[in-house]
Amino acid sequence: MISKVRGTQDILPARFTDKPDAQIESWAIVEQAAREAFRRYGFEEIRTPIIERTELFERGVGTDTDVNKEMYTFEDRDGERVSLRPESTASVVRAYIEHGMFNQPGLVKLYYIGPQFRRERPQKGRYRQFAQIGVEVLGQSDNPAIEAEVLEMLDWYLKQLQITDTELYINSIGDENCRPAYIEQLRLAIGERLGELCGNCKQRYETNPLRVLDCKEERCQPVLNQLPTITEMLCDPCRAHFDEFRALLDERGIAYTVAPRLVRGLDYYKRTTFELVGNQLGAQNTIVGGGRYDGLAEMIGGPATKGFGFAFGVERMVLSLPEAIVTTSRRAPTVYIAYIGDQARRHSLALARRLRAAGVAALVDLEGRKLKKALAVANHLAARYSLIVGDDEIQSGNYMLRNMTSGEQQRLDESQLITILNDANADR
Ligand code: HAM
Repeated sequence: MISKVRGTQDILPARFTDKPDAQIESWAIVEQAAREAFRRYGFEEIRTPIIERTELFERGVGTDTDVNKEMYTFEDRDGERVSLRPESTASVVRAYIEHGMFNQPGLVKLYYIGPQFRRERPQKGRYRQFAQIGVEVLGQSDNPAIEAEVLEMLDWYLKQLQITDTELYINSIGDENCRPAYIEQLRLAIGERLGELCGNCKQRYETNPLRVLDCKEERCQPVLNQLPTITEMLCDPCRAHFDEFRALLDERGIAYTVAPRLVRGLDYYKRTTFELVGNQLGAQNTIVGGGRYDGLAEMIGGPATKGFGFAFGVERMVLSLPEAIVTTSRRAPTVYIAYIGDQARRHSLALARRLRAAGVAALVDLEGRKLKKALAVANHLAARYSLIVGDDEIQSGNYMLRNMTSGEQQRLDESQLITILNDANADR
């Protein structure tokens, strides 16, 4: 047998898998609620290719970042270097430039849902192909009201999904005016304690000292906790931006913790960064990550543009769903129709057609099973109701509808049947 590639998942109907983040019903909940949040806040959908020129990510994501090192990159037959996208912000900004969206008055607010690829070591909540849902707000304004509204939307979304056990961490990582001096100071401070740090930190110290702050190694933590933070070194405009952002969160009653050592794994960020961490998830506990990336458009050859957005892994959001929401979402047929004999089979197929036209999820046995076997299938599929068509039913036009859970039966004509079955559909 040929099995799936390591680090990838088949997302299946729940009845075929025990893995909570591989159940399609949960994915549907997460996606549908997201689309609803995006509709309310005025975001439009965009779909970009999963394959892009490697250069896009080298310039956007940065060459010395983990995300870049984890890319699936190959040379195409014509010698062009292409990569499977490790994230979508760079792609969305490319599309924004390529289609002249910057000519629009006002902000362009886009959202996307789709697979991403990173060649990481697979573990719970971490895959080589995973799906992200993300938003990007692009335009000429860097008003902190943009950040606050996007976080308000995220807050609304989490409430819809009844996800409560999370922590929001925010930070400002400054801009090109204040960050270089901070990085210099950080480099010096790391240099003094280099011997106490892991190999990974040592390497980051050379290539990208800011990333040292992101090391998860236990033994590095005491040192990291003593490294200087950027907070005291922010320039006045960055500080004012951050203060305003915080005030707007306070106004909305959105709780957060300022995490002065929160740096993100991508090079394009400037000023505001944030992460939403789930308390139930284990090692891979960052559900949502985002931030401001003014200047990314210029880095990839476009006009000066401001940007802010976030993305979350669908798998991690699914793993954070409360059990109650997950179980009520299982899809089962509302009614399963079994029959006795050839004439009844034709009658059943026609009845199913009419029920479906009226909105009912109806299944009919198509395999010519004996009645008992057909009802066993109905049971297995967890159909809410079953009904059996025989000569009596054909003649009278009345059907005995059986509630599969309670065993209760009632005799109904077709219009009563439709009413009851549609009600059952509605309260799912
Ligand atoms: P990121 O922090 O690299 O940011 O990824 C965002 C989220 O994607 C993570 O918090 C996590 O939920 C999920 N994720 C990342 N890697 C994996 C993986 N290997 N397996 C499963 N889930 C994963 C970005 O990608 C930015 N583009 C976010 C952004 C949008 N910033 C501004 N706009």
